[in-house]
Amino acid sequence: MDIHSYARPAEARVTNVALDLRADFDRRRLVGTAALSVDRAPDARSIVLDTRDLIIHRVTDHAGHELAHRLGQVDAIIGCPLEIDLPAAAQQIAIDYETSPQAAALQWLSPEQTAGRRQPFLYSQGQAILTRTWIPTQDSPGVRQTYTARIIVPAPLRAVMSAESRTPAGREVPGGRAFEFRLDQPVPPYLFALAVGDLAFRELGPRTGVYAEPATVDAAAFEFADVEQMVTAAESLLGAYRWGRYDLLVLPPSFPFGGMENPLLTFATPTVLAGDRSLVSLVAHELAHSWSGNLVTNATWSDFWLNEGVTTYVEHRIMEELYGTEHADMLAVLARRDLLEEIDRLGGPQSRDTVLHVDLRGRDPDDGATRIPYDKGAALMTLLEHTVGRDRFDAFLKSYFDRFAFTSIETATFLDFLKTRLLSDSKEADSARLRLHEWVFEPGLPGNAMEPKSARLDRVAAAARSCLDDGARGPDTSTWTTQEWLHFLNTLPEHVSIADLGRLDEMFGFTTRGNSEVLFAWLRIALKHRYLAAMPALERFLTRQGRRKFLRPLFEDLMATDWGRPIAQRIYAQARPGYHAVVTSTLDPIVRGA
Ligand code: BES
Ligand code: ZN
Repeated sequence: MDIHSYARPAEARVTNVALDLRADFDRRRLVGTAALSVDRAPDARSIVLDTRDLIIHRVTDHAGHELAHRLGQVDAIIGCPLEIDLPAAAQQIAIDYETSPQAAALQWLSPEQTAGRRQPFLYSQGQAILTRTWIPTQDSPGVRQTYTARIIVPAPLRAVMSAESRTPAGREVPGGRAFEFRLDQPVPPYLFALAVGDLAFRELGPRTGVYAEPATVDAAAFEFADVEQMVTAAESLLGAYRWGRYDLLVLPPSFPFGGMENPLLTFATPTVLAGDRSLVSLVAHELAHSWSGNLVTNATWSDFWLNEGVTTYVEHRIMEELYGTEHADMLAVLARRDLLEEIDRLGGPQSRDTVLHVDLRGRDPDDGATRIPYDKGAALMTLLEHTVGRDRFDAFLKSYFDRFAFTSIETATFLDFLKTRLLSDSKEADSARLRLHEWVFEPGLPGNAMEPKSARLDRVAAAARSCLDDGARGPDTSTWTTQEWLHFLNTLPEHVSIADLGRLDEMFGFTTRGNSEVLFAWLRIALKHRYLAAMPALERFLTRQGRRKFLRPLFEDLMATDWGRPIAQRIYAQARPGYHAVVTSTLDPIVRGA
């Protein structure tokens, strides 16, 4: 049961969505038709869809006869049911509709909000329950659907989707250019995705490439040069890549997430373009979702850890394969620190918000999108691997993706499969030793979690402890990677003076770093100690990119102090119009107290 959808798929379910939409940038609306194919029980009288802020003009059957329909009551979190009467045997319905300019899934950007500053941009973000704000369908991760689309856009722009492109160059049509798409593999609607803009393309490998604005595309092609190799590595670990192409799309800076695993076309933040390929674990992560998430999907948002935990584990394995264990070990140590910090933020190891299988009754699924499903989920996978051995665990993973390919499963199904396929014939792996139930249903990080170790980061930590000592020579940092710099900042002493921070800044130029992760870590330290020399850089960072992971902690830190509060409020008032809806709904309560 998916408590975040009105659909009753046992009675009637959507199996295909055929979109015919025009992107109206002046009115900030998508306008057109969604034709749905319906698989129905013989006695079903109606079908229920999910909507939110949609304007429904007309509903018809395959012969063009109007069908009676009603919109139900609006719920602030899950929106509004659309119930459509189904005459006997009807299997096709067409909905004429348009989206609202406030549709939460759609961000309409003015030219000034893009890298090129010449053309507008539009993109969608469906996860978790936002697709219903741009497509009237059954918006549940348990209801898989194929789709086709024709999207008409203003002539200079190009449309891309999470699907196979049928018209790469588009076709001239009255009033613009039409692009056609088709996805034959059934996926949950949160994976339907569209972007429209001034987009260039660079090939990366035989089945991989990157789209970005012309101003960004060369930097993107450099950053992502290893992507074809990542796909090959993932295939040898998990089985065949079943989607054809794997492309990336680099979005304008206001994209609220790091990445989004839209099928065939990962959406990515430009803040990953560090110039030295040091943040590409993000690509490994989104690519891994081509198996965990897109091929085998969480059936409800309480099972989100199945998507993100398995993916985060696979991400680490892909990184190990490409860049070696030393590098992967550093990533694992950094991830563990993030997890412990997150458990703290969520109220400590007793807090129910640190449970893997999370209770979302009455809550927005976004509330469950913490580091817990990612890093605690991955820690469970790592423990399983070490308990049964890598060979057996790898065979299990492959069989898992084969067995459940193109289905949506709940936590219980995963645990059953795990017990019968992996744990049943090994006494040492019995549930009591693994504490499987505790891992999935109890808060905190169980005591039998493996402890990640990195000799390289241990050396960095020692340097961080001593570099401020009287007369100390600075450490030799000439070979340090981004991960070492992050660990250095993470392990600086709690008590440092403004003068110390000034010295560090002078030695290492933190305030002027272009690497988003390093700058973020430094800005948090600067805020903690009121190191005012970093404030102009902070303001630039808060106004020039819109990634929630960076914005939330920085605004929280500012709001926590009397001196920071007015700064936060001033910057927020200025930057808010440029932020995505998922970001303003996170930040409004923090900065405006609403
Ligand atoms: N699927 C998520 C993004 C997401 C989660 C969007 C929940 C909406 C609701 C994506 O795979 C992801 O996890 N992105 C991370 C980056 C990744 C490298 C950990 C992010 O955006 O921070
Ligand atoms: Zn993910």
